[in-house]
Amino acid sequence: MPGPLVLYALCGSLRKVSTNRALLEALRDIAPPDISVEICDLIGDLPIFNPDREVDDMPASVLALAAKIRAADGLVISSPEYAHGIPGGLKNTLDWLVSRDEIPHKPVMLVHASHRGDDALEALTEVLKTMSVRLVEDTFFRINLLGKTPEQRQSILADSETRAILMENLQRFVQAIARSGAEHTDRS
Ligand SMILES: Cc1cc2nc3c(=O)[nH]c(=O)nc-3n(C[C@H](O)[C@H](O)[C@H](O)COP(=O)(O)O)c2cc1C
Repeated sequence: MPGPLVLYALCGSLRKVSTNRALLEALRDIAPPDISVEICDLIGDLPIFNPDREVDDMPASVLALAAKIRAADGLVISSPEYAHGIPGGLKNTLDWLVSRDEIPHKPVMLVHASHRGDDALEALTEVLKTMSVRLVEDTFFRINLLGKTPEQRQSILADSETRAILMENLQRFVQAIARSGAEHTDRS
């Protein structure tokens, strides 16, 4: 029997009480047993990208990240906007991946935890397209958690309407991955 479909989730915020992380956790928690959603905890460990290190000094944290990306059937990304752009930690993560072969054609679902931040979303979309990911645009959704207390967030994320949005888009993403076939997922 094949294992679960694996989604690897990148959060652009390293805050302990991040709203974007809360959104990714809600997706993880709502996923049925045949879909595994793992949230990346490596972003804060990566050194600043330096192309020289790609030649003969690849950091172990980058290799660990690359292995996770290779093994994943798809990526989910949720990020805040910082100064009208992509947070440095997430951009740094993408920079380490840009010349590698794990990321091209990887299905990606973007989600967003704010009613603002369109500049960051636009920049992220451009960067991801430049990296030749397969951005599944019709699975994008936003749940506004900006400025909400942890209790308010929990109530929004537990709401049946929110859960339906999460589940519908998760399933649509999984269907899009299935349609693209296994040709680009190398689990070796
Ligand atoms: C340094 C910094 C810069 C920010 N710049 C913007 C911005 O340009 N536009 C915006 O809409 N929000 C901005 N924000 C607000 C964050 O995007 C917002 O608080 C978001 O919910 C944080 O996500 P998190 O809860 O996942 O950490 C900024 C926050 C910080 C800390």
